[in-house]
Amino acid sequence: MDEAATRDLLVELARSLFDRGYSVGSAGNISVRLDDGYLMTPTNSSLGRLAAGRLSKLDLGFRHVDGDAPSKEVFMHRAMYESRPEAGAVVHLHSTMATAVACLPDVDASNPIPPLTPYFVMRVGRTMPVVPYYRPGDAAMGPAIAAAAKEARAVLLANHGPVVSGKTLTDAVYAAEELEEAARLFLLLRAQSPRLLTPGQVEDLLATFS
Ligand code: 13P
Repeated sequence: MDEAATRDLLVELARSLFDRGYSVGSAGNISVRLDDGYLMTPTNSSLGRLAAGRLSKLDLGFRHVDGDAPSKEVFMHRAMYESRPEAGAVVHLHSTMATAVACLPDVDASNPIPPLTPYFVMRVGRTMPVVPYYRPGDAAMGPAIAAAAKEARAVLLANHGPVVSGKTLTDAVYAAEELEEAARLFLLLRAQSPRLLTPGQVEDLLATFS
């Protein structure tokens, strides 16, 4: 896909996320890897009202070279790309259910959401660790995300929200949506003892679909 088509797709998917309540106000940011750098949503922009021609363009060293000033979370996206060579896009949201899980002190920080459904496993993977709280925009978050992302396609920032990578922009958006649904199911079923997918079923899904 060429850069113009990628810009249009980013605007379309960001707007779709916003319209369905995955992002409010100016929360969230999205980036896509290009041959010569990265496209990123501008800082303080609403995912519902992006302009394709004003997206931030970064070079391969994540320096701003064109468009509006980039998200203050460039280092967050950079950490994901550097730990996930297969990643072609990164989506960061403050989506409600995933962020609710990110606020719970008594979950398993190495993998708070258990394998309840196949599509969570297929899109997000085997694990999704919680990264300790950092102030939004604090570059100290970078190494913590990079370490966690070595073992996981997505991470959950404590009291903040999810950061999800995907091979393509569409994959990353689908994974962020599946993560939100899995978080909703987890919260719905938390007081009960739901049947989980077995380790064998999880491995079968990963072997078949990854
Ligand atoms: P930006 O507006 O700088 O992208 O920040 C939004 C956000 O979600 C911070 O985590």
